[in-house]
Amino acid sequence: MVRKTDFLVIGSGIAGLSFALKAAEKGRVCLISKVVLDESNTKYAQGGIASVMYHPDSFGKHIKDTINAGHGFCNEEVVRMVVSEAPERIRELINMGVKFDRDDNGRYDLAREGGHTERRILHHKDNTGEVIEETLADKVRSHPGIEIFENHFAVEIITQHHLGEKVTRARRDIRCFGAYVLDTDTREVSTFLSKITVVATGGIGNLYQTTTNPVIATGDGIAMVFRAKGLIENMEFIQFHPTSLYNPGERPSFLITEALRGFGAVLRNSEGEEFMIRYDRRGSLAPRDIVARAIDTEMKLRGDDYVYLDCTHLDPVELTEEFPNITRKCRSLQIDITRDLIPVVPAAHYLCGGIKVDMNGETTINNLYAIGEVSSTGLHGANRLASNSLLEAVVYAHRASVNSAGKLDKITIKTGIPEWNIEGTSHLEELVLITQSYKEVQMILSNYVGIVRSDLRLARALKRLQIIYEETEKLYKKSVLSRRLCELRNLINIGYLVIRMAQERHESLGLHYTLDYPERERSEF
Ligand code: FAD
Ligand code: SIN
Repeated sequence: MVRKTDFLVIGSGIAGLSFALKAAEKGRVCLISKVVLDESNTKYAQGGIASVMYHPDSFGKHIKDTINAGHGFCNEEVVRMVVSEAPERIRELINMGVKFDRDDNGRYDLAREGGHTERRILHHKDNTGEVIEETLADKVRSHPGIEIFENHFAVEIITQHHLGEKVTRARRDIRCFGAYVLDTDTREVSTFLSKITVVATGGIGNLYQTTTNPVIATGDGIAMVFRAKGLIENMEFIQFHPTSLYNPGERPSFLITEALRGFGAVLRNSEGEEFMIRYDRRGSLAPRDIVARAIDTEMKLRGDDYVYLDCTHLDPVELTEEFPNITRKCRSLQIDITRDLIPVVPAAHYLCGGIKVDMNGETTINNLYAIGEVSSTGLHGANRLASNSLLEAVVYAHRASVNSAGKLDKITIKTGIPEWNIEGTSHLEELVLITQSYKEVQMILSNYVGIVRSDLRLARALKRLQIIYEETEKLYKKSVLSRRLCELRNLINIGYLVIRMAQERHESLGLHYTLDYPERERSEF
């Protein structure tokens, strides 16, 4: 089947939904989502969304904190733009119905997280993402200009390659004409032709065995754009959240928000020592890369599987009121957070790099935009400042919608695109061929390309991944498409990009720490 639309939006987290709502004022929108509309990383966000709200905070301080957390590797122009546009985007969320918590005086109750020198995180209890996702999803569902396709999986971006032309990464005239999309219920592949295509497919957490990300986060958008010869960058900067709840076997790992440390909780090792003071003067509230690495070191030194987060000195009433979901979750595991220490462990959480975009979210492929976690805007540098990603998503959704709407009249829908070719394929009989390889990829990345890396570990990882790559490509060519097979293939592509970019960085910088180059190459910023 062939469908035609002005805007094709792939992904329904905060980025895709925000874009769709704005674009629908200018043209017809098809919004596709690989499972149900509201399943996304966005839904699990706890801490909140950063924005300067009141004196004594200032744009200058938010900019400085972002650049400090990013180890000076951020694009300063982008940081300035995102920080200064934040209050307007926050007002839009509030006007749409997102209820951020307020204090007794009616002012927004701003939280603090690692790396922030002021309180500037707007939040709703400890389930901010769920509230944002629900509000936006409700608006999208009731918008007559948006057609929703749930259980639809984008497989490939369509370019001149599908018209038989040779497309190389060096070309600057690659154009996107839409995407091939798999209906995961019927297993049929449709051709979605669009004037503008927006990739908003989120992160890559499932590249690792332990992650805070739900199962949808398999790097599909980045893998598709890489294969379509778009530019991808900074994939070595993978953020491990320092404090996911230690509960072996649970996937995704339950997050214990950094806002809890902002509220006064401290990290302790198995000897009860508040060890972070030895690593950074900011203690438990140092930026994430520093805290995660310190926890990793403590666990390795002591042979422990986790460290502890201690809230027992905090006011129990305020604590449980501010963090009701964490309280409930821990209680279900017989942990009373007002009296017991919470066992925590780092988990893959966020990708700072991704599809290279300009200040309007446009990729190096014409008429193709990337927004949200999938993109590399330059905001996060070598380590994202907490709660800057929901912000980045709404700022870039807005800018991409304005910029792309301006082009709509000049673009015509491409004709002559061939439909998906299923010749020579058959249904896969043994699913174990996929599930085992999926686990192996996660194991390789977790063991060799985690918080601490080395040349030897990276070389081993690449060699092992190569074997799985070859097996999977063979399987892909002869199989009827399935979501699991496509996700495996995408994760292998993502793993390759992470390893290769890590190998190319001969220094330790932010989230990329390697034993072979422990020093920074460039001078301090
Ligand atoms: P997502 O919200 O992940 O949405 C991606 C969408 O794309 C999904 O709908 C998915 O189904 C769809 N999709 C993916 N692949 C395909 C495909 N092939 N075809 C069709 N659809 C596809 N950030 C903050 O700023 N503050 C926080 O407090 C915070 N807390 C977090 C807590 C947790 C537990 C996690 C996991 C992340 C947190 N983050 C936080 C990070 C933040 O939530 C994400 O970076 C952000 O929500 C990403 O939004 P997105 O729209 O880019 O992607
Ligand atoms: C958290 O609540 O700790 C997560 C915040 C983020 O990832 O920005």
